[in-house]
Amino acid sequence: MNLQTLNLIAYVWLGIAILVHFTMFFITAPFGRHTSEKWGPMINNKIGWVLMEFPSLGIMLYFLLFGTYSFNSFVWILFGLWIFHYTNRTFIYPMRIKATPKKMPLFIVINGIFFNLMNAGLNGYYLSELAPKNDYALNWLNTPQFILGLILFITGLAINWKADTILINLRKPGETGYKIPQGFLFKYISSPNLFGEIIEWSGFALMAWNLPAFTFLAWTFANLVPRAKNHHDWYLNTFSNYPKERKIVFPFIF
Ligand SMILES: NC(=O)c1ccc[n+]([C@@H]2O[C@H](COP(=O)([O-])OP(=O)(O)OC[C@H]3O[C@@H](n4cnc5c(N)ncnc54)[C@H](OP(=O)(O)O)[C@@H]3O)[C@@H](O)[C@H]2O)c1
Repeated sequence: MNLQTLNLIAYVWLGIAILVHFTMFFITAPFGRHTSEKWGPMINNKIGWVLMEFPSLGIMLYFLLFGTYSFNSFVWILFGLWIFHYTNRTFIYPMRIKATPKKMPLFIVINGIFFNLMNAGLNGYYLSELAPKNDYALNWLNTPQFILGLILFITGLAINWKADTILINLRKPGETGYKIPQGFLFKYISSPNLFGEIIEWSGFALMAWNLPAFTFLAWTFANLVPRAKNHHDWYLNTFSNYPKERKIVFPFIF
């Protein structure tokens, strides 16, 4: 595939992200607290997470190890960061979430697999086959774009992990219900884990500075902002004492 074809696919994929973004304010993605049997056959929650996230990890590992130019520049750093994030999301996160009788629709898993095939496919192929090698040469490591991007990536990752940890630990062994999370960024927003994930992929896009990385950031934003709104509305409807001053996902803004 040449660059023109990849760009065309990325622009179409970006257009779909915009449509999905607005649709998701009206149709809540049915997993986690919003899970529903109305969406067809169901699958164990933990297995669902592994199945839907593995393609992203597997594809990026494949392009890192077998791609033509993966080690001809410092582009392997971008692969490494992606693989680090998705090792957690694919294997560690599902092991850590508390086992509840909850299931997720197979429909969500299939959507997740397609989302990950497209995003990892576009990013992996671009980085290992098409990116100009001087974009990720030694001097790239000294650019403000790389340094700021890396700081944002690590900060976002830390926020995402810490917030996920607080949420996971709200349940004592055997508990299945929900509580109001307190402390850390929960003082300001309902979904610091989703905020952290958006910051993380903003950092990645800044570092990588290419169309597939910005397309992935757009998809992350498109998915997670409406999901955070769904979570926030759910908290307000579920807990009469939910702190009214909390924003949805961006502290002091939204
Ligand atoms: N890149 C992307 O596009 C994308 C898309 C989706 C998710 N993600 C990431 O995947 C992770 C999970 O996302 P999510 O929206 O499913 O997160 P979430 O609803 O906040 O749930 C995270 C975990 O904490 C539990 N939990 C949440 N709130 C709780 C509460 N108030 N009381 C007790 N337990 C609670 C959930 O249990 P239940 O499952 O039982 O609700 C789940 O195990 C996040 O880190 C997110 O950033 C990324």
